[in-house]
Order: sequence, then structure tokens, then C-alpha cells
Amino acid sequence: MGMFASAILAAAIGGPVAKPAPIGFLPAAVYKRSCASCHGDSAKMIADGRLKMRPRRDLNDKVKEMGAIIQPPLKPDQSLVMTDLLLSWESGRPFLAIVRQEGAKLRFEATPGTTVQAAAKGSSLSSGKDSKGDYVSLPAGAGISDVRFTLRRGKTTVTLDGSRAAWTRY
Ligand code: HEC
Repeated sequence: MGMFASAILAAAIGGPVAKPAPIGFLPAAVYKRSCASCHGDSAKMIADGRLKMRPRRDLNDKVKEMGAIIQPPLKPDQSLVMTDLLLSWESGRPFLAIVRQEGAKLRFEATPGTTVQAAAKGSSLSSGKDSKGDYVSLPAGAGISDVRFTLRRGKTTVTLDGSRAAWTRY
């Protein structure tokens, strides 16, 4: 079992929560590639009223069901991330997921229009973009659990503490 899955499992059974691990995929990119052919973009999803399903658990059950029909299928823990992405669209709140760490590059995916600031070990981090997407540059020896993101979208500010979670949860 990967670190990510064991963190989810520990949280579900109420045991000690393992450190969050990067999620390893790009949720909005997967949506665009595998869901948008039927559902259209985020604006269409909202207009169709599809994101109003509550409670969150029921929306997640539906996303799991949908995730099983795409290729490659979404794993159960990936469907949770997708559910929070959809909820962020509906509420207009910022969404960020920490995707993977490659040396000093901590890759993330954030909703377009979100201002992203990050800090670790007391200093603010510079960000960049390459062919694989957005990243922040980590100081030597730092990892996901040292990073704190501050996200602004419209009037909403949200923080994501990498020692607690690898994506914004709604
Ligand atoms: C082959 C077309 C198709 C694909 C691909 C698809 N969906 Fe759906 N989806 C549907 C249809 C049709 C419904 C409505 C019927 C139902 O609820 O099963 C639906 C319903 C939903 C709902 C529930 C909305 C409601 O009104 O109850 C959500 C949320 C959803 N899809 C998300 C997704 C996500 C996320 C993906 C990608 C992982 C995805 N879908 C991929 C066709 C698709």
C-alpha cells in the first residue's frame, strides 16, 4: 500500500495519521481528459447543477462510480481528490493539490485564477512553470511537510499546510 493510501486508511479508522504524501496525478487534467467529453468544463458542470449532490460522501460515491468508467480508472483515494476539486468549483474556493516532489521541485496543480504563495522553513518560495506544470522550489532538505501554501481566489483566502494534507479539502 502506498503512503497515500495508508494515510487515508489511518484517517478512516481513526488511528495515527501518517504524513501526507503527494497525490501523484493532476486532477483537473484528468477531468479535462476523461470527464469533460460528457460533462463539459467546470462552468457547464455548475450550470447543469451536477455538483449540488450532498452530503459530500454521496458526491464522492458518484465520482467513484464515474471514475470506474474512465481509462485508466480513478483509484478510490483519487476520487476523493476529484470530489474536492468539484466542490471547489461549485463554491468558487481555491483548490490546490500537491502532485509530486522531484528533487527541489514540488509540483502542484491549482485552479486557474488562483494566486499561489508558498513558504517553507521561514522563507517564501519561488515558483515556476515548465512543460510538466507548476512547481515551487524547495530549500535544501525540505519536503511536503515543511510547505505551507496560501491561496487566493477572488475574495477567498485558504491555507494548505503540507504537514496535514496534500490537497485542499471541502
Ligand atoms: C460517458 C459519459 C460520462 C463520463 C466519461 C463521465 N460521466 Fe459523470 N455522468 C454521466 C451521466 C450520463 C450522468 C447522469 C446519470 C448518473 O447520475 O449516472 C453523470 C453524473 C455525474 C455526476 C452526478 C451529478 C448528478 O446530477 O447527480 C457527477 C458528480 C459526475 N457525473 C462526475 C463525473 C466525473 C468526475 C467524471 C470523470 C471522472 C465523469 N463524471 C465522467 C456521464 C459521464
